[in-house]
Amino acid sequence: MANITFIEASGQSTTVDLPDGWSLMQGATANGVDGILGECGGSCACATCHCYVADDFLAKVLPASDTELAMLDNVASERRPNSRLACQIKASADLEGMVVHLPETQE
Ligand code: FES
Repeated sequence: MANITFIEASGQSTTVDLPDGWSLMQGATANGVDGILGECGGSCACATCHCYVADDFLAKVLPASDTELAMLDNVASERRPNSRLACQIKASADLEGMVVHLPETQE
């Protein structure tokens, strides 16, 4: 279980209590966070779950796979060093308190 805070480009902030194993994308879409679309359902094939992971948590999330890195080439908003796909990050106690910023647009 981890409390994850999503901050949309508008500044709207939503904190979600995510069960272990849920992806950040699942938690966001299930809780009305509009800044994540998740059009492919989490199969790392759409890049509409782009997010920016707070620097102090980058070392706590598993590294991006080659597939995720390739999909990050296709994001609609600026790709940054802390860009990730929210469907590829799974909640665990290590991520308690993590803050994720969302881009201006996903498509
Ligand atoms: S939900 Fe499609 S890539 Fe993450």
